[in-house]
Amino acid sequence: MGKPKVVLGVSGGIAAYKACELLRRLTESGHEVRVVPTAASLNFVGEATWAALSGNPASTEVWETVHEVPHVRIGQAADLVVVAPATADMLAKAAHGLADDLLTNTLLTARCPVVFAPAMHTEMWEHPATQENVATLRRRGAVVIEPAVGRLTGKDTGKGRLPDPEEIFEVCRGVLARGTAGPDLAGRHVVISAGGTREPLDPVRFLGNRSSGKQGYALARTAVARGARVTLVAANTALADPAGVDLVRVGTAVQLREAVLEAARDADAVVMAAAVADFRPAEYASGKIKKKDGQEPAPVALVRNPDVLAEISADRAREGQVVVGFAAETDDVLANGRAKLLRKGCDLLVVNEVGEAKTFGSEENEAVILASDGAEVQVPYGPKEALAEVIWDQVAPRLAPRRA
Ligand code: CTP
Repeated sequence: MGKPKVVLGVSGGIAAYKACELLRRLTESGHEVRVVPTAASLNFVGEATWAALSGNPASTEVWETVHEVPHVRIGQAADLVVVAPATADMLAKAAHGLADDLLTNTLLTARCPVVFAPAMHTEMWEHPATQENVATLRRRGAVVIEPAVGRLTGKDTGKGRLPDPEEIFEVCRGVLARGTAGPDLAGRHVVISAGGTREPLDPVRFLGNRSSGKQGYALARTAVARGARVTLVAANTALADPAGVDLVRVGTAVQLREAVLEAARDADAVVMAAAVADFRPAEYASGKIKKKDGQEPAPVALVRNPDVLAEISADRAREGQVVVGFAAETDDVLANGRAKLLRKGCDLLVVNEVGEAKTFGSEENEAVILASDGAEVQVPYGPKEALAEVIWDQVAPRLAPRRA
């Protein structure tokens, strides 16, 4: 099999310079990239940069090399088209099927998956015209990545930033890996909790756990690539923000519960990948707890935390909402998993065997997915992304029919 062929469309926004980094990631990881910049984007990044970084001529015009029919061939030959940055104007043109330059022609002729990474000022992003264009593109099967929140051009801050190129690359990788399977989570809102809660004892100490958040983040990344709107409730993680997710940061189990319940109100699926502390200190000392000469330390009294998974499983915010739990077990993995599935009342339980060197903080995972309908899926040892894909493969067919 030859290298996957990617068309990188670049439209005229200042974030065009970040697309250089995306291009590098794509070429370095073995993709054949053809850059198609719009005329306006050449004000920000010149043709020579695209040609040098891609190793291919950058095509801007339908009138160049006409005998090769580039306005048709480039789109036809592509395995993936990614437009980054996608301006409001580009989204409008794509949604309405205009074809007044090489990139818009390419979008009309491409039969492969298409990813748009919009970047613009908040007002332009929020404008009903843009939102309707985005909805149209998504309905037709394109993956439109939600812009990030942060510093924009000039002094403005808000939603509209192009996500980190490395994270756009991850979305592209996920979309390419799916091939023609398409964005099966399009139009769905999924909520994922990730990381591990910390329960404070005093201003400097907490009871915590060793969860890194990698599995939850992998779930978020793969869900974006499958077209979902994603809310990621992250407890004490130190990982790069995935592109296109709505990130809510929390510290304790109680905060996590609030954030998950709030986001779950209109969610099609909730995946509880976070390691939530079952107990928290009964008392919080507002000053640092000091050792006292000649005295043994006082025992730490604990109280139960709410069980978020059991609660959302029992009181589904929406009919047909699919709830997924995780179980980390050290012994009798399957028997404990089955008992936990029943006790928690969720639809799917992803059971991991954990130990000192297993799962926590590692890039790989092995699991068995147990379903309340009796199904059982073994997932061999492999990257956390691969397990995430299998989890979504199990969630997707169990989702309630889409609402009109
Ligand atoms: N969980 C939760 N709220 C808690 C504890 C756990 O929502 N207070 C969720 C986790 O996110 C995970 C699942 O429950 O999806 C399983 O967590 P685990 O700690 O393995 O289960 P426990 O109920 O704590 O069972 P045990 O301690 O007996 O193993």
